[in-house]
Amino acid sequence: MTEAFARAKINLTLHVTGQRPDGYHLLDSLVVFADVGDRVRAEPAEALSLAITGPQAANLPVADDNLVLRAARTLGGQGARLTLEKHLPVASGIGGGSADAAAALVVLARLWQVPLPDPAAVLKLGADVPVCLEGRAVRMAGVGEILTPLAAPLPDGWLVLANPGVSVPTPPVFKALARRDNPPMPDDLPGWPSVEAMAAFLAAQRNDLEPPAIALAPEIARTRAALAAQPGCLLARMSGSGATCFGLFAAEEAARAAAGAIGAEQPGWWVAPARMVG
Ligand code: C5P
Repeated sequence: MTEAFARAKINLTLHVTGQRPDGYHLLDSLVVFADVGDRVRAEPAEALSLAITGPQAANLPVADDNLVLRAARTLGGQGARLTLEKHLPVASGIGGGSADAAAALVVLARLWQVPLPDPAAVLKLGADVPVCLEGRAVRMAGVGEILTPLAAPLPDGWLVLANPGVSVPTPPVFKALARRDNPPMPDDLPGWPSVEAMAAFLAAQRNDLEPPAIALAPEIARTRAALAAQPGCLLARMSGSGATCFGLFAAEEAARAAAGAIGAEQPGWWVAPARMVG
């Protein structure tokens, strides 16, 4: 049996800087990971099969187009018994499906003793699959295929992830954008000596998908506000195309207290404190 952890991907910034002729949007995004995620396991078997378990399994019926199965087919026609232990909310802006696909590629390449697919095939699975396969903090550009590692290590920090239980499909959010030619981040990303310094930098950046996502799902604004109101929250913003928002914290205790307070106020929300990793 072989297993991989599919970490949540967080867009600390997401600038939409243009659009390709095929409709995909050009992005400039600072991506980090949160130390919470799904697990993908693979065991030898004659045929290819997938079972989904875990607290979010009910929101993800097993279907032939599941990204884990699509990832498996990208690697070839062999068999395996796959299990996806689903913890991350589905279609929620933190790359759950993409992280699962990347983890499936890793476990099956190991099980079948085959190389990972070429970058174009990885990108075809989803624009966030390359960054999830990379699995560390990067500046992400193009439609998701240009990944530049950061010049300096990330400062130690904590995230609180909160999702109000609305799933927001990505295409309508991109469609509802007012502008597609927004300015990128500064050319050179500075290193940040502390998470406070990083938050000050991030405050001057944006997630351009936030306004259209909030127009489609107003709960997102309430989620972001609930995070921003917590003691110790340095910055609150939506990740990806939503609806999950993150709060950035310096201290573990403050992050855990904030997650506890929001969870108590909003029992229907998915709330998770997590170390920021890169
Ligand atoms: O590639 P992925 O399946 O994650 O993208 C879902 C949808 O989001 C795409 O079909 C496209 O409509 C939109 N998208 C985009 N530009 C990107 C990534 C996604 O327009 N860079």
